[in-house]
Amino acid sequence: MDKRPIGIFDSGVGGMTVLAELKKHFPNEDLIYLGDTKNFPYGDKSKENIIKLSTKCASYLISKDVKLIIIACGTATSQALEELKKIYRLPIEGIIRATVEDIKENQNNNLKIGVIATEGTIKSNKWEEELKKEIKNVEVINKACPLLAPMAEQGWTSNAVAKEAIKEYMKPFKKQKIDKIVLGCTHYPLFKELIRQELGNEVEIINTGEKIANYLENYLTIENLQNEKEHVGTCSYYLTDTECNFIQVAGRLLQDENIKDCIEKVNIE
Ligand code: DGL
Repeated sequence: MDKRPIGIFDSGVGGMTVLAELKKHFPNEDLIYLGDTKNFPYGDKSKENIIKLSTKCASYLISKDVKLIIIACGTATSQALEELKKIYRLPIEGIIRATVEDIKENQNNNLKIGVIATEGTIKSNKWEEELKKEIKNVEVINKACPLLAPMAEQGWTSNAVAKEAIKEYMKPFKKQKIDKIVLGCTHYPLFKELIRQELGNEVEIINTGEKIANYLENYLTIENLQNEKEHVGTCSYYLTDTECNFIQVAGRLLQDENIKDCIEKVNIE
């Protein structure tokens, strides 16, 4: 048993889609969320910069005595996870491995998988590399969708602009008839309904937050890291800048209007 909290970070509100899944799966765990809103977006920054920022986020969470860290950000997972694992001794996991392993377990032959993510993630080619390492006969179609994370931060996830953007971004996948689409940026589950409308019910939409939550369930059990069963889990939120729409978007996502009372502005420099 380990009563310490689980640390989670992202550049902004996207990681809240992961936190929402963790809350569902682990009602007895304490969760600490760090949103590096001051440095949002991560998606168009250099790898060097992403490593620097991710290191600051991880160090901050470690100062809060977390038992493990979930990188709830596709960009930081694809570019900084390996470095962070070299620097820190505590367990750190991102969104890619858990998702690829889940697809592998449930695989069919000749899969055609679409991956949408930030520029940085797509440039890193991490999803395609990992999918091809684990799954035979997989075809991967990548598409960077740089407008989506900033739109999600604005709360623009179902208006006319969002509809047009999703329509445009989904074009290659409609042409190619994919089996699954991986939401490789944690902001993108906020557009799930619009993506579903464009791609129809045949295409499986993969929310990485669900996959990492399943992975963690096994991991905590195997490593004996769970909190006490009867403990009622808490959530604390730390933001590096509070002049943003985080409160409204996150409140809507978690259906919790009181979230503003649990947010603290922090300096992680
Ligand atoms: N939510 C993030 C991701 O999963 C980052 C988006 C951004 O900061 O550009 O990639």
